[in-house]
Amino acid sequence: MIVMEETIKKEKFVIKGLAGRKTLSGSISISGAKNVVLPIMASSILFEDGFTATNVPEIEDVKRMGELLEQIGVGVEQKNKNTYSFKIKKQFNKELNKEISKKMRASILLTGPMLARFGEVHFPHPGGCVIGKRPIDLFVNGFEKMGAEIKDENDGYKIYTKNGKLNGAEIFFNLQSHTATETFLMAGVLAKGKTVLKNCAMEPEIKNLADFLVSHGAKINGAGTSTIKIIGSGLLKDKKIKYVTMPDRIETGSFLILGALSAKKMVIEKCNPDDMEVVINILKESGVNIKTTKNEIIVENNNSKQIFNGVNIKTHEYPGFPTDLQAPMTIFLTQAQGESTMFETIFEGRLNYTENLVRMGAEILVWNPYKIEIKGPRKLKGKKLESPDIRAGLAFVIASIIAKGESEIDNVYYIDRGYENIEGKLSGIGVDIKRTESSQ
Ligand code: EPU
Repeated sequence: MIVMEETIKKEKFVIKGLAGRKTLSGSISISGAKNVVLPIMASSILFEDGFTATNVPEIEDVKRMGELLEQIGVGVEQKNKNTYSFKIKKQFNKELNKEISKKMRASILLTGPMLARFGEVHFPHPGGCVIGKRPIDLFVNGFEKMGAEIKDENDGYKIYTKNGKLNGAEIFFNLQSHTATETFLMAGVLAKGKTVLKNCAMEPEIKNLADFLVSHGAKINGAGTSTIKIIGSGLLKDKKIKYVTMPDRIETGSFLILGALSAKKMVIEKCNPDDMEVVINILKESGVNIKTTKNEIIVENNNSKQIFNGVNIKTHEYPGFPTDLQAPMTIFLTQAQGESTMFETIFEGRLNYTENLVRMGAEILVWNPYKIEIKGPRKLKGKKLESPDIRAGLAFVIASIIAKGESEIDNVYYIDRGYENIEGKLSGIGVDIKRTESSQ
């Protein structure tokens, strides 16, 4: 039932820009978060039976994770749009599909639950977006601490446990890693005894994953803080509580930036403003008019001549400024008055897309692979672009909307990996965007 990757069409977006006018208006709804639904899906391997999840975003990465699970031994069924059930089959495969894993970094999330349940896992070096080296030393070290043996072979890694079980362990992560925290959180659920994770990532998705696992029988304490304790308690059982995927923080922030730059009034619905504090603070300090309710963010430009001030931003683990909003925020800074700096501290290859913004008319000085200076405001012109990764791809969409003239963005697959029905949502607030077949 799930489409295999080979059938993916090559498509592009054609966007007619607003030439800086702030005319968009209406409501835009936030989908479930990619970076929580992927670990939630991976956690199905910890279940005796399975579970149902709702508000699952209809995005390519969810399809790829579904394909990986089907091949491992989890039945994935789409019940309705945005609702999926996951059911454990009788036979398991201990090897991750190479083609998909090589292209999707999040495949590494499966290694923790697989090793904890099957005592063995084989996987290629996981790939993903071109945003730096993305090593896996934290995973290798952590699995060794839990008693596993690792063989690094030509075509990937083979990890074994001696007696088919991982042992609980104390693991200190030398740096905060989102997926390493989630992987070991899940591994601890089926490990023997107690696992203590230190210097954990503290993103809201991690607490959300832990709450979900606890609601189905896991014993976890401290998720959302830097130390997490897990008592291995055996296979989880479906408690018939439907999991509702939490709203996507990165989609929320991207639409907020788009609203600040090009909307008369935009209401961002079904989001969680509490998770967005740093982004809302910085934009407000720069001069953006933002109001929040419990589940909405309203961004309004009453004065079309409103000037935004430049700001200096450093990406940081949560609750700091998210690296996944670095590219959209850079677009914002091209339209802010004066000099701004953007300091990317998480990934080393994540500023390469800015050369395309310069082609569009932005004034950006590259200090080094981690830091750029942006002088604004500068008028942008529509260009032919290619989406290099999920987040820079969406940043190009925002840049094309504010630019003068027409832009074409190729490699739409990258944008579809992380955003549901992006052209439908944007058309709904007045963006002239069309999806067409790519000539490439
Ligand atoms: N790192 C290591 N060794 C490891 C693991 C990570 O050195 O074994 C380094 C990375 O190279 C990076 C830093 O640790 O410099 C932090 O990376 P992290 O492991 O937190 O990133 P990730 O877990 O691979 C997740 C998101 C990313 C998001 C980052 C940072 C998922 C599926 N992916 O990646 O999202 O950018 O956290 O918040 O949750 C995206 O959605 O487009 C995306 C790239």
